[in-house]
Amino acid sequence: MLKVGVLASGRGSNLEALIRASRAGERLFEIVCVISDVATARALDVGREAGIATYALDPGQFGKKRDYEARIVEILKTHEVSLVALAGYMRIVGPELLSAFPGRIMNIHPSLLPAFPGLEAQAQALAYGVKVTGCTVHFVDGGMDTGPIIVQKAVAVEEDDTVSTLSARILEQEHIAYPEAIAMYAKGRLSLSGRRVIVKRSETNA
Ligand code: GAR
Repeated sequence: MLKVGVLASGRGSNLEALIRASRAGERLFEIVCVISDVATARALDVGREAGIATYALDPGQFGKKRDYEARIVEILKTHEVSLVALAGYMRIVGPELLSAFPGRIMNIHPSLLPAFPGLEAQAQALAYGVKVTGCTVHFVDGGMDTGPIIVQKAVAVEEDDTVSTLSARILEQEHIAYPEAIAMYAKGRLSLSGRRVIVKRSETNA
């Protein structure tokens, strides 16, 4: 079974969705550890309550980002992690972590990338006035929200949407998209052609 390590900074609803998906149906993957850069993050409670090993790391306690990430890599390796899933992890991944898991780090972002990268993507979409936004699961590269796209889900923007109503509808789609992307990876259905992620047909559809 694919062993997944999750990095999260906050609420942990995507982590919850991943745990739920991992424990239902085909059992294609398992979340084996949760690491947070925020000691009070609800994601750590979610992990603990699910019986998963959790780690709070304060980046400020490490001299350099490289040392902080080296500790993350050490934890991930201890748990024999094959895939790293960023789930509301609010830091740019540096070379230390990227090089330890090349092509094996995924992220979820609350917009249809490449539109609205960075912080407060839902507010950016509302302010811009787009009629459709959504979420993206992508592989992580050295840039901010720039890596190859695996899954996207579209969400219509309604006339009376606020950041909070729009974010809630996007979040529902995030909770579907992330397990879907990891399941495809676990089944070996994803490959790269340039920056395009090619999704092989599943055996049942072939
Ligand atoms: C999610 O909406 C996720 O897409 C977003 O943070 C939220 C985390 O929620 N991530 C980013 O904006 C990354 N750039 P959660 O902690 O409940 O999963």
